[in-house]
Amino acid sequence: MKQLYLVANWKSNKTVDEAKNWIFQFKFRKTPDNLTIILCAPYTVLSLLKDEIEKAALPIFLGAQTISSFPNGAFTGEISAEMLKGLVEYVIIGHSERRRYFHETEEELQKKAQEAASRGLKIIYCVEGVNQRIPENAALVLYEPQTAIGSGKAEDPAISNQICREISEKNHDIPVLYGGSVTEATLPGFLSQPSISGVGVGKASLDPEQFLRLVEAVSSYE
Ligand code: PGA
Repeated sequence: MKQLYLVANWKSNKTVDEAKNWIFQFKFRKTPDNLTIILCAPYTVLSLLKDEIEKAALPIFLGAQTISSFPNGAFTGEISAEMLKGLVEYVIIGHSERRRYFHETEEELQKKAQEAASRGLKIIYCVEGVNQRIPENAALVLYEPQTAIGSGKAEDPAISNQICREISEKNHDIPVLYGGSVTEATLPGFLSQPSISGVGVGKASLDPEQFLRLVEAVSSYE
């Protein structure tokens, strides 16, 4: 049975109250051994989510959506790897929206990866194709074609499978997930692909009931 990952990315959404409401509605208490759920939430709600996850023993790992390329120090507004240590297990680096709207360069992303790894954070590294450089220390790769993100038009799973396979083969068999307009309707097509090790979910992770249905679908997947 292959190891599967379900990565929720809330992006720039959720007030403190909305985050509390979401986590209170997350009723899933046990996932199969081969499923890892990772919730990448805004910095502002990580601490409260951590408390609630621990209190209710929920099967969720927390992740951040980005990280500073600098260590601790006089870098106003930045969140360093050291600050995230103990709060999250994972961090997304190189999401398409960070590259596009915040002009994050390859060089900066490699520095972020070094910072994350130096503090023991597991890296979910995002790429939009096979030719992007993936840091040696990445734990997971999230392949997200830009045209599929938030567009409601997921990629053809057979094409994604080929790309995920190539990425994995070029990078020591690293698990590669697909992301971009994944919903209950498109999920099965991706899960059934041999080289896709799970999915990244943006919009469909915001509503707790919709996300739970995705968790259930992945959990019942053989
Ligand atoms: P989406 O976002 O599911 O809303 O398309 C995916 C992502 O950017 O991770």
